[in-house]
Amino acid sequence: ALETVSEISALRKLVASRRQQGATIGFVPTMGALHAGHTSLIEAADADCDFVVVSIYVNPTQFGPDEDFERYPRVLEQDLAKCAAAGANLVWTPDTSIMYPDGYSTDVTVKALSRILEGATRTNHFQGVTTIVTKLLLSCLPDIAYFGAKDFQQQAIIRRMCLDLNIPVEINTCPIIRDTDGLALSSRNAYLSAEEREAGLSLSRALRLAEEKVAAGETDIAQIKAAMQQLLNATPLLKLDYATIADPTTLEDISTVQSEMVALIAARVGTTRLIDNCQLAPA
Ligand code: PAJ
Repeated sequence: ALETVSEISALRKLVASRRQQGATIGFVPTMGALHAGHTSLIEAADADCDFVVVSIYVNPTQFGPDEDFERYPRVLEQDLAKCAAAGANLVWTPDTSIMYPDGYSTDVTVKALSRILEGATRTNHFQGVTTIVTKLLLSCLPDIAYFGAKDFQQQAIIRRMCLDLNIPVEINTCPIIRDTDGLALSSRNAYLSAEEREAGLSLSRALRLAEEKVAAGETDIAQIKAAMQQLLNATPLLKLDYATIADPTTLEDISTVQSEMVALIAARVGTTRLIDNCQLAPA
């Protein structure tokens, strides 16, 4: 049966007692409004670990002043049912009074990786993410934490952070789950009108185009980027932010083919920001 806790002390007690019995602990941090992308992480954790903890917390510090913190969907009852069905054992729903107590004054920042790509537009977003993920990891103390490749930069930053701070947690990155039309699942897709959703399909189409070009032996990175950008710029209602090809670890732009690469796209459709990516390997 699924248990729920909100206090850190209760979380620690339950995890410690399971660990004492020899259980391995898997952890899936989320902001709720769970969809099949999130539940795929819970299922992966359930397959690898004896005891699976899911956190649900809409973290205020990772939202910009003009972003959707207030209107972010909050549907706890539905989320709990999805957690149970996917194999979670414990759901932790911390309160803001616990995560950011009065007088709160500490941040965790991964410098270079947080300034580029998403970080160039969303100032302080990744500082909010790395700060809360540090707190979540230190509260749960799992063996393995699960993140989605959907937020490719986020998982790269969290990997860097765990290395730099010697946080003894294995980071597992799970594949992007897509709708049948190709749109990567996101809680924010709920904001899209039918026309906007159609425009949003250009992200996965552009990624498929890049994949096809690489598979066909194209080695001119500038040419592949230009093809993605052309497709995206020709899409009504869509405002391209970036479509680039980068090193999967440093996320620095690359200009020549290498054995591992990632194509990354961000665009605005109406007021909704969409991101998508795919890893590329030369033929
Ligand atoms: P949230 O947006 O709720 O996402 C929780 C996890 O689900 C993230 O690791 C994200 O990459 C993953 N995810 C989302 N959509 C996915 C999809 N279509 N396929 C696979 N995985 C997907 O990311 C956050 O929350 C927050 O920043 C958090 C890490 C919880 C810190 O507040």
